[in-house]
Amino acid sequence: MDAIKQFQNEVQDNIKRLGADKTMSADTLAWMIKAGTIGAYTYNFQWLGRPIIQYPQDIHAMQEIIWATQPDVIVETGIAHGGSLILSASMLAMLDYCDAQANRTPLMPGVSNRRVIGVDIDIRAHNRQAIEAHPLSHLITMVQGSSIAADIVQQVRELVGDAKRVLVCLDSNHTHEHVLAELEAYAPMTTPGSYCVVFDTVIEDMPAELCAHRPWGQGNSPKSAVQAWLPQHPDFEQDLAMQHKLQITVAQDGFLKRVR
Ligand SMILES: C[S@@+](CC[C@H](N)C(=O)[O-])C[C@H]1O[C@@H](n2cnc3c(N)ncnc32)[C@H](O)[C@@H]1O
Repeated sequence: MDAIKQFQNEVQDNIKRLGADKTMSADTLAWMIKAGTIGAYTYNFQWLGRPIIQYPQDIHAMQEIIWATQPDVIVETGIAHGGSLILSASMLAMLDYCDAQANRTPLMPGVSNRRVIGVDIDIRAHNRQAIEAHPLSHLITMVQGSSIAADIVQQVRELVGDAKRVLVCLDSNHTHEHVLAELEAYAPMTTPGSYCVVFDTVIEDMPAELCAHRPWGQGNSPKSAVQAWLPQHPDFEQDLAMQHKLQITVAQDGFLKRVR
């Protein structure tokens, strides 16, 4: 067997062992609860200068997914400070660069057919200003409004147009009802082979006191929405290998791959 294949097989075996180890997942959850209790751990990070409300492991997961699926368009609900938009934009810029290298064509600065579309109900003026001032802003379109309002969904659909490869990330209001409505509206925009990533499914496994001041919690979370939605949508499957390899992720059961 060639060395690359052998290495890949070893990695797959590692991932399977990690996925099967229940003590590991229990210890990981305990760590995540502690990190969330001591401070809002997810607020600690930045991507190319913008605060990103994600775990580093999930940032890495997005890199693997974007490289594997090579999207033309990334749709994101939930902008906040814009870090995840800049992460997506930086990956799209990298894909543009790699395409130019592969095709031996010049890279046209500021010109791209790729696009990140971000939706948020409340794009704060200082965040909008900082995102618009970022060198990657030419790849970003922001839409303000509730992600489940019919006119906003229609605007996003029009912006996506007939893009061939579309990736979707849901990270806005984390109630069951809202995420279910987002899945109905945005998951169909995901193209076969790509992903609809549902963030913060981990809320389902967090102690009630950590969500006390929030409208979501156990039984009313992105994970409960995925559990309700997925059985009716066999064109999507959970990519469990992703969460098994990451271990630390806020998107357990939320890496939904469109398989047909
Ligand atoms: C967790 S933050 C997003 C974090 C961002 N994706 C990142 O990784 O840095 C959630 C965002 O969802 C937005 N939001 C809340 N309810 C919403 C709704 N109904 N429609 C769209 N956005 C909403 C909030 O304004 C907030 O900025």
